[in-house]
Amino acid sequence: MNPIHQTFQDRHGAPYVVRDATPEDAPHLVELLNRVGQEEIYIADERAQLSAEQEASIIRARNPEVQVILVAEQNGQTAGSLEMIRGILRKNRHTALFGMALMPEFRGRRIGRGLLLAAEDWARQAGVQKISLAVFATNHGAIRLYQSLGYQEEGRRHRQYRLNDDWVDEIWMAHWL
Ligand SMILES: CC(C)(COP(=O)(O)OP(=O)(O)OC[C@H]1O[C@@H](n2cnc3c(N)ncnc32)[C@H](O)[C@@H]1OP(=O)(O)O)[C@@H](O)C(=O)NCCC(=O)NCCS
Repeated sequence: MNPIHQTFQDRHGAPYVVRDATPEDAPHLVELLNRVGQEEIYIADERAQLSAEQEASIIRARNPEVQVILVAEQNGQTAGSLEMIRGILRKNRHTALFGMALMPEFRGRRIGRGLLLAAEDWARQAGVQKISLAVFATNHGAIRLYQSLGYQEEGRRHRQYRLNDDWVDEIWMAHWL
């Protein structure tokens, strides 16, 4: 697998880089998950489940044929991250699943789009054919990003989550490369 290191332009023409995470990124990834988790309305995790040391070990130990952990960086700051894992069984090797999140101050600049396009490049190299994700039905911005790149709803788990006293469906989306 070739390492991922791609430069994109954000909505305002400013460059950002999407690259493979290194162990040095671990504290930033934990902070990112804590920040987005505390917002409560975008991802299921309420906070990072791992310490920075544990995250660094995972980055070090990951099998690049199976898992990619990407970081988007702008002006030396961690803007966001995407993690994708492909199926490891003969029956599901053609599939991959991902989750992604950006720091609040980096959203809406087309950085999410670059992260996902870079992850799709990794998936193609890995021989993945079908990419899936799960998203809260209330997360309209994320759903629009996925739709704009060809992802379509495949199914829905009704009232799968409880967000701020409301029931929220979980939508499963997929895209064939
Ligand atoms: C969802 C998320 C990853 C999208 O990344 P982003 O950089 O903000 O989105 P982009 O700027 O790349 O958007 C690309 C396209 O998606 C759509 N889109 C993204 N956010 C949108 C929003 N809030 N409202 C409307 N459309 C939106 C637009 O169609 C946009 O196309 P355009 O650039 O032509 O306008 C990011 O906003 C985020 O981290 N949100 C919080 C965490 C989260 O929701 N993670 C996903 C959980 S499933």
